[in-house]
Amino acid sequence: MQDLEPVRANYLAKVAAAANEAAIEALRVATLGKKGEISLMMRELGKMSPDERQRAGPRLNALRDEINAAIVARKAALSDAALTERLKAEWLDVTLPASPAAKGTIHPVSQVTDEVIAIFADLGFAVAEGPQIETDWYNFDALNIPPEHPARQEHDTFFMARAAGDDRPPHVLRTHTSPVQIRYMAEHGVPCRIIAPGRVYRCDYDQTHTPMFHQVEGLAIDRDISMANLKWVLVEFCRAFFEVEGVELRFRASHFPFTEPSAEVDIRCSWAGGQLKIGEGDDWMEILGSGMVHPKVLAAAGVDPMVYQGFAFGMGIDRIAMLKYGIPDLRAFFDSDLRWLRHYGFAALDIPSIHAGVSA
Ligand code: DAH
Repeated sequence: MQDLEPVRANYLAKVAAAANEAAIEALRVATLGKKGEISLMMRELGKMSPDERQRAGPRLNALRDEINAAIVARKAALSDAALTERLKAEWLDVTLPASPAAKGTIHPVSQVTDEVIAIFADLGFAVAEGPQIETDWYNFDALNIPPEHPARQEHDTFFMARAAGDDRPPHVLRTHTSPVQIRYMAEHGVPCRIIAPGRVYRCDYDQTHTPMFHQVEGLAIDRDISMANLKWVLVEFCRAFFEVEGVELRFRASHFPFTEPSAEVDIRCSWAGGQLKIGEGDDWMEILGSGMVHPKVLAAAGVDPMVYQGFAFGMGIDRIAMLKYGIPDLRAFFDSDLRWLRHYGFAALDIPSIHAGVSA
């Protein structure tokens, strides 16, 4: 049997010098692998005489165990070192401030719409919606505005373009939210108590008019709903919305084709020092139109006007937003100017007024 000492010294030196996990694995294969040098030497044992084997066997076993132990130890040390290196490279400072996320604000129209919905929900009104592109029947005829009626001209209607030979009924961009009254009653029947907030369109543009603006329609129909109910609901709404306990409303006789009788509603205010104050002073400002729903309107929606009656109202959302939050020019609402939005916008958690403390 050859002298094992040089073999031992050679491999132990190589193991000690192995620089990475791949090198140590190559050494393992070269020594203890199937065709490794030490494995081959052990295979030779079979060809030896029993005497020779008895002397060589323990020495070879000892050599194999020693080299194996050296490889395992070196492997563990190398993998520890590799992990330490990786942890150093992947180190992450969780105390660094996060990169700032762009923060938006809630548009006054969205804020006020939420406030209006919350207040009327408290009064038992559900929210209904209708399409912004309407047939002229829903927008006018069903609301008792026949083709020759001057109100059709007053509304500065946008008509949808149509190709020659298109014989569908004429469509318009709805000029008010009132057609939702017809659609809701026709689909769900009565009794009903709804508000319908949404976009409306008229060809008009100055400090208080934009071609697109927002209205909220109200409708309450049952067997015995009267003008007194209308009055109470609107006073409660204004008290909660403007957050003024002693709010005062004036019902002024007016005319709308879809209500009879009709009333425009003014709110008491003062303009002392150029600043608007709601609920005090000697001025009156118009805030909405209202009345008892015309029997022809009920009939157009399939409701028997001999049995049912009720009130309706229509209010400009942008207009009451301007009043409540002191915003002077309507046109800026829709300019998407970030400075304006930051100034007049609301934080996501600003809570509608009724929940902020003024009870209805
Ligand atoms: N639709 C009317 C407008 O846009 C507002 C209005 C007035 C709605 C009286 C109503 C109402 O429901 O009863 O000018």
